[in-house]
Amino acid sequence: RQAAKQQQDSLVDTMERAAQAYCEQLKSTPHAIDYLKRRGVSGAVSSRYGLGYAPAGWNYLASVFPDYTSRLLEEGGLVIHGAEDDKRYDRFRDRIMFPIRDVKGQCIGFGGRVLGDEKPKYLNSPETPLFHKGRELYGLYEARTDLREAGYALVCEGYMDVVALAQLGFPNAVATLGTACTGDHIHKLFRFTEAVVFSFDGDAAGQRAARKALEAVLPLVNDTRSVKFLFLPPEHDPDSFIRTHGADAFTRMVHAAMPFNQFLLQVASEGCDLGTAPGRARLSNQAQPLWNLLPPSTLKRLVLDELAQHIALPAQELEGIWQRTNAPAS
Ligand code: UTP
Ligand code: MN
Ligand code: MN
Ligand code: MN
Ligand code: MN
Repeated sequence: RQAAKQQQDSLVDTMERAAQAYCEQLKSTPHAIDYLKRRGVSGAVSSRYGLGYAPAGWNYLASVFPDYTSRLLEEGGLVIHGAEDDKRYDRFRDRIMFPIRDVKGQCIGFGGRVLGDEKPKYLNSPETPLFHKGRELYGLYEARTDLREAGYALVCEGYMDVVALAQLGFPNAVATLGTACTGDHIHKLFRFTEAVVFSFDGDAAGQRAARKALEAVLPLVNDTRSVKFLFLPPEHDPDSFIRTHGADAFTRMVHAAMPFNQFLLQVASEGCDLGTAPGRARLSNQAQPLWNLLPPSTLKRLVLDELAQHIALPAQELEGIWQRTNAPAS
């Protein structure tokens, strides 16, 4: 165990040294600075997030780490080692680098963005002993005190959303790392704040992300937490919206965010003509698996009342029907 701990410590050191080196590279790389400037990123917010630049070329990290063949570089996902030809090369090349920190502030991984239109647009660290993509929230460490101050968290999809929001007055933003929002993510977030506003991209992928987040958050809803969804116009993500329309417009969007129960009703009502009995029965069927995810609370009863009103049945009767049938989760 002691050995495992030491191994982890040296892995963290390795990641930190790489982050430092990428950061210094950014300062001396005009085209990378230009890219961030074009996207409106200020020096202050760039240093808040420790943004960096991974130079082009296959073995830049060999100049940072005298032992480029170290297992730590591979284990940290910084260097790729071809098993067949025994060649080693840097994973991140010619990319803007976003260090990903754990809640203690230690660098555990990176996201890297191309400066042009190449694919993939973002490259993330692979799963490593330190880094588990499905559990980490980008920007959580940087936002930790701002979350308490603001009293809520904004949860978005992308690195650039977090950076833009922080720069324009919303330092309480975090992002999932290109994965669906999980219960693990939200659980972690509720250690810092009792209120979350999901703010995904306005496109179809963002709408799917919001549904996933709804299912992930329902088991964690209780009478003291606030859970809302902010829906942007289809052509925007938080970054483009706030840069185009300004901070006040975004504040208005936050204030107008939809409470989770309203979103639940909207999702459950899809394809239901509530003017007809079959439509209302369908709503009942679609609402049941979602409502079942809620842990017992006063709020759960109130959500039942609300659903029952739309289905046009007494709440007790609806609950009785739901107890007798076991609609499979969709
Ligand atoms: P988006 O495609 O919405 O990217 O993906 P974005 O953040 O708005 O990108 P910009 O504004 O063009 O820079 C949202 C998030 O999904 C993950 C990244 O975390 C990204 O921020 N993603 C996206 C990847 O991991 N890989 C990709 O190739 C694309
Ligand atoms: Mn997107
Ligand atoms: Mn986006
Ligand atoms: Mn974007
Ligand atoms: Mn617009």
